[in-house]
Amino acid sequence: MSPLLLAFVLTIISYNEAGAVQPPTFKLNDGNEIPAIALGTGRGTAKESETLEDVRQAVYWAIEAGYRHIDTAAVYFDEEQVGQGIAQAIADKLVTRKDLYITTKLWNDKHRREQVVPALKDSLKKLGLEYVDLYLIHFPVAVKADGTSDDVHYVDTWKGMMEAKELGLTRSIGVSNFNTTQIADLIQRTKVVPAVNEIEVNPTLTQEALVNYCQSQGIVVMGYSPFGFLVSRRSASAPPPRSDDPVLVAMAQKYGKTTAQIVLRYLIERGIVPIPKSTNKARIVQNKDVFDFSLTPAEVEAINKFNKNIRVISISSWKNYPLYPFCEY
Ligand SMILES: NC(=O)c1ccc[n+]([C@@H]2O[C@H](COP(=O)([O-])OP(=O)(O)OC[C@H]3O[C@@H](n4cnc5c(N)ncnc54)[C@H](OP(=O)(O)O)[C@@H]3O)[C@@H](O)[C@H]2O)c1
Ligand SMILES: *[C@@H]1O[C@H](CO)[C@@H](O)[C@H](O)[C@H]1NC(C)=O
Repeated sequence: MSPLLLAFVLTIISYNEAGAVQPPTFKLNDGNEIPAIALGTGRGTAKESETLEDVRQAVYWAIEAGYRHIDTAAVYFDEEQVGQGIAQAIADKLVTRKDLYITTKLWNDKHRREQVVPALKDSLKKLGLEYVDLYLIHFPVAVKADGTSDDVHYVDTWKGMMEAKELGLTRSIGVSNFNTTQIADLIQRTKVVPAVNEIEVNPTLTQEALVNYCQSQGIVVMGYSPFGFLVSRRSASAPPPRSDDPVLVAMAQKYGKTTAQIVLRYLIERGIVPIPKSTNKARIVQNKDVFDFSLTPAEVEAINKFNKNIRVISISSWKNYPLYPFCEY
C-alpha cells in the first residue's frame, strides 16, 4: 500500500459509545474491510498455567478494549472459547456480530476440496457463528490424519474455499504461510486472488520481498508472532532485538510507548495487520493502543535492519514435504 493511502486509511478512526478508540481498517481486494490489528489466540506461546478459560476471558477483554478482530484456527482447539468470549460481549451489548471480524483457518488434514465446507461448518459450530469474516488455508502443506505427508494440492483446496465463500459461510478467503512462488502459482491457476496472506513478520524476519509481492497483488498481509524474539521464547540464544534493545528503547521513549508497541506500530506502518497474542488484560489494552502515533520512514528502515531471516515458527518436521513453503529461509 502506498504511504499516502495508508495515511488516509489510518485517519479514519472511529469511537464507540464507551469511548474506546477503534482500530482503523485496510481495504481488501474483494471489497471487504479488515481491522488493522487482531487479537491472537494461538496457544504456541501460552504459559503452562494458561487454560482455555483464559482465552475466553482474553477475547472478552479485547472486545471491551476496542479490538474488533480475533484470529483463531481449528488447530488451536480454542474456537469454542473464542466463541464464548464473543457471545458474552454481544450479550453484554458491547458490540453486535457485524461489528466484529473473525478469522479462522483450515487445518492441513482437511485439504481435499470436498472437506473444506464441512471443516468450516465444524469451526462455525464451535464458534457459535453463522459466518466468519475470513477463512484461511493455514499452510500450503497437506497432511493425512496421522500427520504424514498427503498429496493434495492447494489449488484443489482453494476451490473448496471458493465454494465456502459462495455459500456465505465466510465473507473473504485467503491463505497463510504461502511463499511468493505459491501465491503466484495460485493466482495463475485459479484467477482468484487471496484477500490475505497471514505470515510471520517481526524485526528478525521482516519479509520485505514477500510482503512487497503480496501488496503488489492487492493482498493484505497479516503478521503473526509480531514480537519475534522480543518476548521470551524457548531458546536463550535467540537473536536480537530483545525488549531492552537500545534502538527500540530510544523510539519507545520518544513516543512514550513500550518497545512492544513500537514493534506493532512498525507492522502497521508497513500496511500489515499485526496479531499480538496476550491473555493479560493490561497487555491486551496496551497492544491496541498504537493508533495515536506513527513512526517515520527512517525508523521503519532502522527496524528493518534487524532482519536476520530467522523464524520463530519453522515446523522443520515438514521440511521434506513437497509443498513446504519456507525454502529460502
Ligand atoms: N498462521 C500461522 O501459522 C500462525 C502461526 C503462529 C501464530 N499465529 C497467530 O499469531 C498470534 C501471535 O503469535 P505468537 O503467539 O506466536 O506470538 P506473539 O504475539 O508475538 O507473542 C506472544 C507472547 O508475547 C507476550 N506479550 C504479549 N503482549 C506483550 C507486551 N505488550 N509486552 C510484553 N510481552 C507481551 C505474551 O504473553 P502474555 O499472554 O502473558 O501477555 C506471549 O508470551 C497467535 O496467537 C496466532 O493467533 C498464526
Ligand atoms: C515455495 O515453496 C515451494 C514448494 O516447496 C518451492 O518449490 C519454492 O521454491 C518456494 N519459493 C520460495 C520463494 O521460497
